[in-house]
Parts: sequence; structure tokens; C-alpha cells
Amino acid sequence: MKNIPVIMIIFGGSGDLAHRKLYPSLFNLYEQGLIHDNFAVIGTARRPWSHEYLREQVSDAIHETHDQVDENEVKAFASHFYYQSHDVTNVEHYVTLKKLAQELDDRYSAQGNRLFYMAMAPRFFGTIATHINDQHLTGSGFNRIVVEKPFGHDLASAEQLNKEITASFDENDIFRIDHYLGKEMIQNIMPMRFTNPLIKNIWSGEYIKNIQITLAERLGVEARGGYYDTSGALRDMVQNHIFQIITLLAMPEPKDLSSDSVHQAKQELLKSLIIPTPEEVKKNFVRGQYLGSDTTFAYKKEPNVDPDSTTETYVAGKTKFTSGPISGVPIYFRTGKEFKEKKTRIDIVLKHINNPYGQAHSNNITIEVDPESKIYITINGKKIDEPGIRREDLTYVFSKEEMAKVPDGYERLLHDVFVNDSTNFTHWSELKRYWEFIDAVEDAWQKENEAGNPEIAQYLPYRMGPKEADNIFESPTEHWIYE
Ligand code: BG6
Repeated sequence: MKNIPVIMIIFGGSGDLAHRKLYPSLFNLYEQGLIHDNFAVIGTARRPWSHEYLREQVSDAIHETHDQVDENEVKAFASHFYYQSHDVTNVEHYVTLKKLAQELDDRYSAQGNRLFYMAMAPRFFGTIATHINDQHLTGSGFNRIVVEKPFGHDLASAEQLNKEITASFDENDIFRIDHYLGKEMIQNIMPMRFTNPLIKNIWSGEYIKNIQITLAERLGVEARGGYYDTSGALRDMVQNHIFQIITLLAMPEPKDLSSDSVHQAKQELLKSLIIPTPEEVKKNFVRGQYLGSDTTFAYKKEPNVDPDSTTETYVAGKTKFTSGPISGVPIYFRTGKEFKEKKTRIDIVLKHINNPYGQAHSNNITIEVDPESKIYITINGKKIDEPGIRREDLTYVFSKEEMAKVPDGYERLLHDVFVNDSTNFTHWSELKRYWEFIDAVEDAWQKENEAGNPEIAQYLPYRMGPKEADNIFESPTEHWIYE
């Protein structure tokens, strides 16, 4: 693998994301030789850590995520890490940071390449971007920036943030990360759709009755009540992850696999995304909050959550496109905290076809993303010793050994940033469109809240979410496939 010279600056170097995801992923890329001798990482955060302490943290992060490691390798890797205590609003600190980056660039022959990573509370993203620009932190080589979600809180704030970032970075150098795009089975959607004539040719409103996407989580909001209460399931999961999945399922075939062509296909599709009216929001969306149990808090009683909160921990909704291969096909989605189990899956429900056997069950293609990775397709045959149709699933599944080889989404996406491949990142024009949709739903909900009659379904924890979500289907013959 080609060795990429670079100085990486992580804003949020003492944080959970850096510890759980970034450091272990960087270590794997180091082991593979993508970054090796000519790189250094500057971790910044407010805490008064030393270089040595950061290196200990990096080493701990690797031990926590790897069964067996060569201690010398860990030590050598950690020696590339430097810490700077940094207040993101303090101009002086950027001057020091710039100096340190320049020194390290000379020491490691990093060729003026800089990679900035925003891994801290999103409210600081704009401030950091502005300072990067004002204090000229960019280097003389490539300059890239990775921005964690959420990218804005609504369209207006996303536009503002984008303005602040594009003051220093070109669109091509901005990597808006969505870790779902690094997941194995999400990356499998395109090859599954476009390489098999059986699947490719039924991918239309003629054969697909509806598509259902479920991102169910077993956990509640845990220690993130403060953030979550200002966000909710719609912004936290639909605006990014669910919309990325929808786009991959509904986009036309790109002319090739280049990042430009893939984004072009996505953008062409998104022009025809139907933005819901307030009446449609009322009819096609369900929001909910989990109740408590003997051992768990109700959402409204969670720490740092407003006891009168109207923030949803569950949302189900519907969308459609007026162009693309599945133009007009309803796409139903739902996501929520405190479901009965962790499950990310996509069900493509095929239409019934008249047949002499009178077979009436639905035929589906299901993609399981988490916790298992598999695709299964319903196949029908005859029953052995009685009349009727037998239904079996033909399964494409990864073995345990194969699963063990699947890199973590972050490792994959970081690799892509280093090699400058933005295929699996969110382009601004896509993000903008997603926000237009989300804003329409949020605005309608806000009006309901203000009118004093918000419809927020209360659901029992560790089940399937509110039963009201069974009523968003267009026809009585539709229902959730995963129940
Ligand atoms: C994050 C959300 O983006 O995705 C979290 O902020 C959520 O609330 C998480 O728990 C789910 O990711 P995954 O990969 O566990 O499905």
C-alpha cells in the first residue's frame, strides 16, 4: 500500500470517538503501511494532557480493540502522536497548533499535507473551520477535512457551517462522514442491485410493492440525553443513515464507479424526492417516546432530558421519488431506541403475481446489515407430499472467518480519506436535500407542538415500537415484514 505523508489534526483527541474508533482504525492502517513513517497525529482537546499521556491513551485504545498486538508496533505507532491542549475559541491556540503542525511536518517529511478531523461537539465545528481559515492552518500540500455528524441542525445551520468550511476547503476536500456508508452490507447494495439481471430487472414499480428500512436499537439514549433531546431520532438517524440507504436503493445506475458518477446518480435521484406537506407528515409519520420499565427510565426521566420533552426516540415515515428506477414505490422507514433487539435491515417487498398455484405470500429480498450480514431471497417450490407451495430463503451469508476480515466502517472510511476517494461520503447537494426533507417534517411537528396537540406515541421498551406505525401503509395489504 502506498505510504501517504500527512499531519493529521484531531479536534476532540481526548474524546470517545477518537478512543473507540479513530485510534484503533489508524493503527490498522499503519499496520497495512498506508500511513507509516511520514505521519504524525496531533490530538487536541481542552484537557491538560501531555504527549506521553495521549500516547498511553492511544496504546490503551489499541489494546482494548485488538486481541493480539506486537507491543513494539504499538509503541512505534503511538510515538507519532502529539497532544495540544486547545480551547477552540482561543486564537493563540491556533497559532501554537500551526507551529506544531509545521514542526512535525518538517520532522516527518509530511510534504505540507494536512488532514483535519472534527470529532468534537458539533456546536464547535463552525468556530474551528473559521479559525483554520483565519489563522491559515492549511498546509502547502493537500488539505482535507473530515466532518462528523450532525452536519448542522437544520438546513439553515448546515448552510452556515458549509459556508464556514468552504472558506478554506473545496467541496472535493470535505469528507462528511456517515459511518453507515462504511458498513459492509451497505456497500453491498450497489453490487447486489446492478450485477444480477434477476435483481436488476425487477427493480421497478412494476415488481416492487414497497421497500422497508428498519434501524432498530436495543439501547436507550444512555449518557447522551443532553445531545439527544436537541436532536431526536429524525435528525439523529433519518437525516443521514436512513437517507443514505434510501438513496442507494433508489438511485439510477451510475455510469461507472467513480466518485463523481456515483454522486451524480444520487443527485439526479434526489431532485425528485417528494418533500412532504404538513398534511402528509400527519398522515405518513409517527413519532414516539419510550416508556420506563422496572429497571429502566422512561425517556422523559432520563438524565439531561426535559421532563416535558417532545423529542422523539422513535420515528416511522414514508417517502417516494418521482424519478429513478423505483419511481412511485413507497419507501417506509423506522428507527428507534429501546427496540426488542439491535437490528438493521432492509426488506424489498415484491408484488404479488397471479399464478395457477394460488400462492399469495409475499416474496422478499432482505438485506440484514447488523448484527448479522446477509442477504436472502424468497424462493418457492412445491411441497413434497401435499399440494401447495413451499417457501424457502436462499441466503448469501458471510462466514465467521469472513466477518472477522471485514474492516470497521471507520477504518474503511479513513482509508478512503487518505486515498482521496469521496464515493462513500455525503456531498453537500445531497445533504442539503436531506435537510429540506427533515425540515419539512420538523416544521410540521413544531406547529403541532405549538398548537398544544402533539401526537407522540408512548411505547413500551424492548418491543417493536408504537403500534401506530402499523397505520402508515398505503394499502391494507401492506405491513411490516420484520415484526
Ligand atoms: C449514530 C447515532 O449516528 O448511530 C446513535 O448518533 C446511534 O444514536 C448510532 O446509536 C447507531 O449506529 P450503529 O452503527 O450502531 O447502527
